[in-house]
Amino acid sequence: MHNLTLYIDCFFNPSPYTTKPSFISSALIFMKLAMASLSYSFIVVTLFIIPFFGCGANAQLSPNFYARTCPSLPTIVRNAMSQAVTREARMGASILRLFFHDCFVNGCDASILLDDTATFTGEKNAFPNQNSVRGFEVIDTIKTRVEAACNATVSCADILALATRDGVVLLGGTSWTVALGRRDARTASQSDANNQLPSPFANLATLISSFAAKGLTASDLTVLSGGHTIGQSQCLLFKTRIYNETNIDPSFATTRKATCPASGGDTNLAPFDITPTRFDNNYYKALVARRGLLHSDQELFNSGSQDALVRTYSNNAAAFSRDFAAAMAKMSAISPLTGTNGEIRKNCRLVN
Ligand code: HEM
Ligand SMILES: *[C@@H]1O[C@H](CO)[C@@H](O)[C@H](O)[C@H]1NC(C)=O
Ligand SMILES: *[C@@H]1O[C@H](CO)[C@@H](O)[C@H](O)[C@H]1NC(C)=O
Repeated sequence: MHNLTLYIDCFFNPSPYTTKPSFISSALIFMKLAMASLSYSFIVVTLFIIPFFGCGANAQLSPNFYARTCPSLPTIVRNAMSQAVTREARMGASILRLFFHDCFVNGCDASILLDDTATFTGEKNAFPNQNSVRGFEVIDTIKTRVEAACNATVSCADILALATRDGVVLLGGTSWTVALGRRDARTASQSDANNQLPSPFANLATLISSFAAKGLTASDLTVLSGGHTIGQSQCLLFKTRIYNETNIDPSFATTRKATCPASGGDTNLAPFDITPTRFDNNYYKALVARRGLLHSDQELFNSGSQDALVRTYSNNAAAFSRDFAAAMAKMSAISPLTGTNGEIRKNCRLVN
């Protein structure tokens, strides 16, 4: 069976979202312990511990993490991304998606970069990733250059976080500060990738809950979906929308059908908006015009809770770019491995 068909089957029969924000249960356990204890000092300790379990802003990540150990890191990444995006502008988009798919599956820990082996099954061949996520060679190139400059120091997870920011900026997006100090996972979960990455066939409520499971709000969902202002999608993932849905501009549907036949052409590409290599607000203008490419895109503007924010971004490119940068900083801090957890991989494709 075609891989993309499996991907659709998987999304039409999704496993229930089992992931709850781990910080809620952690906080609850600490609260119970605190209430069971009459010790004032215990409660004080508890109150100091809880913030470290918060989703997102991990206190251990810092923009200056490699300032002394690898001062050339930002330049190496920026130059390599500049070369990659000059060679193929879409690469800025592809790296952004690679990072999103890394962060959404057990945190921004470079787990998506691990190759499958005879004894190891990782995330690369999960349905949302297989024949879909790209940019691994660019990360390999950056890693090789970083290793040459600073042996065994910089994680693949941090390289991916920096490369993502630089790719967005190279295509015209607003910059953000990348906090660093992530370490690389020694494991990866194909089933978690299958279950936790959002489906292009999902409705708004399901999209909101999949982002909530990562500590992200409905507004974060709407602004981060603006990542679709760059890049392209394969035909099979929007075919049902252009042939069978009603909340779609008819002339847009006709245009897309020209390169996405009802039968066949499944891997043919179409841009998400009219400027797929410019980080602008045309994605939101498209949604307001009922020209969203994926079902999940149009769900953000389909008489629901996100209509107002979509309309705001469609009228205010600066607000979108600013809010996207802030939300990316938040997404970049999902459950990082820090301290002595994980490792600094020598090769991003292999556990040491
Ligand atoms: C809200 C839920 C989301 C769904 C259902 C979704 C789904 C998809 C799908 C189906 C594709 C096309 C894949 C292919 O053709 O092989 C895609 C591409 C893309 N996605 Fe998303 N996505 C979502 C959110 C995001 C977020 C949050 C970001 C980044 C912040 C993002 C960034 C991208 C980019 C840049 C591409 C184009 C990649 C390229 O051209 O190589 N997506 N997405
Ligand atoms: C990098 O460091 C490791 C030890 O951490 C060492 O074995 C290796 O030879 C070093 N490689 C280079 C190119 O310096
Ligand atoms: C559209 O819907 C019809 C009727 O349910 C179905 O037979 C057809 O396969 C659908 N086409 C696409 C492209 O999803």
